[in-house]
Amino acid sequence: MFRILYLSTANQPFSTNDLAKLLRAARSKNTAVHVTGMLVYSDGDFLQILEGEYQSVTGIYDRIISDPRHGDVSVLQRGLGYGDRLFPNWSMGFKRVPDQTLVDEAVGVNSRVKLRYLDAMSALDFLLACSRSQT
Ligand SMILES: Cc1cc2nc3c(=O)[nH]c(=O)nc-3n(C[C@H](O)[C@H](O)[C@H](O)COP(=O)(O)O)c2cc1C
Repeated sequence: MFRILYLSTANQPFSTNDLAKLLRAARSKNTAVHVTGMLVYSDGDFLQILEGEYQSVTGIYDRIISDPRHGDVSVLQRGLGYGDRLFPNWSMGFKRVPDQTLVDEAVGVNSRVKLRYLDAMSALDFLLACSRSQT
């Protein structure tokens, strides 16, 4: 299972409608190549994990990073992971986290940390917690 975990910053404000449109496109493309994952949007930053076959994940990721709607991308983790998918049920799960309130005691992440300040391990834990509580 190949995974890429990255952070980026939106180059424009994303409305609920913009996010819904983005997700619709992402889910249909990801489903076609069996890529799963989770996307979180908070205070103008994105945190996303993509998992699947190497070719599929890197193909999708290359398209994502050339998307002008965001930039300042930092890769937190990239490589082969052991075992099965961490997000098997989501072609792309999504959660919008209210600005400046990354409150999730289950994760132990400081309640007022910005996505940008999470290290790879905390970011992954945070995405897992979000995937369990999303709709
Ligand atoms: C933060 C962010 C996350 C995205 N995630 C995905 C994704 O998981 N899968 C995907 O196909 N496109 C994703 N996109 C959208 C792609 O960048 C691109 O717009 C979309 O795949 C349509 O590509 P096309 O116009 O070449 O058909 C994402 C875009 C942004 C800004």
